Amino acid sequence: MRIAVPAETDPAEPRVAATPETVKKFKGLGAEVVVQSGAGKTSGVMDAEYEAAGARLAPSAAATVEGADVVLRVRRPGPGELAGAKPDAAVISIMDPYGQEAALADLARSGAATFAMEFMPRITRAQVMDVLSSQANLAGYRAVVDGAAEYGRAIPMMMTAAGTVPAAKIFIMGVGVAGLQAIATARRMGAIVTATDVRPATKEQVESLGAKFLAVEDEEFQQAQTAGGYAKEMSKEYQAKQAALTASHIAKQDIVITTALIPGRPAPKLVSADMVRSMRAGSVVIDLAAERGGNCELTEPGRTVVTENGVKIVGATNVAGRLAATASQLYAKNLFAFVETMIDKETKALAIKWDDELVKATLITRGGAVVHPNFSGGAN
Ligand code: NAI
Repeated sequence: MRIAVPAETDPAEPRVAATPETVKKFKGLGAEVVVQSGAGKTSGVMDAEYEAAGARLAPSAAATVEGADVVLRVRRPGPGELAGAKPDAAVISIMDPYGQEAALADLARSGAATFAMEFMPRITRAQVMDVLSSQANLAGYRAVVDGAAEYGRAIPMMMTAAGTVPAAKIFIMGVGVAGLQAIATARRMGAIVTATDVRPATKEQVESLGAKFLAVEDEEFQQAQTAGGYAKEMSKEYQAKQAALTASHIAKQDIVITTALIPGRPAPKLVSADMVRSMRAGSVVIDLAAERGGNCELTEPGRTVVTENGVKIVGATNVAGRLAATASQLYAKNLFAFVETMIDKETKALAIKWDDELVKATLITRGGAVVHPNFSGGAN
């Protein structure tokens, strides 16, 4: 069984889908691993390390995927990028499939069985494969580091001979995986941390990390969490009450980090242009929802804007990729854990269990068709 790891083709993607550690583990399961020369460079992994772990290096993408049973990627392969792989190869990556019908049709035409890691069910057995969590956790950490770097003052309180520097106030909006890590990181840096969310379960989590919770805790708030643990889209009335509560708070913050998302919906707008106008010059907004439209009205995805009143709004995308080495390490482990379930330990061959709930939840195309129920052409 041959596993191929081509280099990412999007110049905005520094991560890589395998590390020397996962190459060794795949070899231990009896697989042959082929890595494209240079694939790990932007994640700090040199060719020689892959070779030492037992991988064979290939000079081009085509030579890498040639004859592959499994292709591992960070991002969805483009048209033609699977040419030469086995016709029914398993292709596993973050697929970013919504609104990408043409790209999915292309993938289907390749004949490959393609899997979207972001659709992995959030059940105990699959925690080790949860790419949303592994990457969001790093993004939450990096958001605070970036916020501190953009902020022209110190974060912790400092009592020096030349005077006392007050601690920075950091407000985290949205307390999922990224938000929790942002709170923990901001606390470690010595900031005064507050946080808000619409799910009641987050209140205790925020307080257990030593931060203060701020939210409109009405009846709608009590019902805001879905059975899956996600937020619902809140009513206009709730959003207005939430805005009224947070507006005066935001005016006093030095760094605001927004991470709020609702599955399948655009990111909720939580920070209005007026709120930004109320902030002091030199304050910073880090918008981790930039890729999904942003939580701040003034966010420009992929850019940092400085407003007329001197507030920096950072709309960086692929924030986990800003920690490419760590992000790749964890992503590669997520992939290994999933692929391991597809390998027959006796025959050492690919043996996908098509009835497994993890396979059913993540499978996007198979046998020439788009099969996932969330997409046109899929079953149901
Ligand atoms: P997410 O990335 O979908 O959203 C981030 C946060 O934004 C959420 O906490 C959400 O409640 C919040 N939010 C949405 N609208 C908001 C608004 N108007 N104002 C303020 N906040 C708003 O969430 P993520 O990080 O994927 O986590 C969702 C849930 O899944 C959490 O409960 C988390 O603990 C849980 N989870 C469970 C796992 C498991 O059981 N294996 C693994 C990872 C997460």
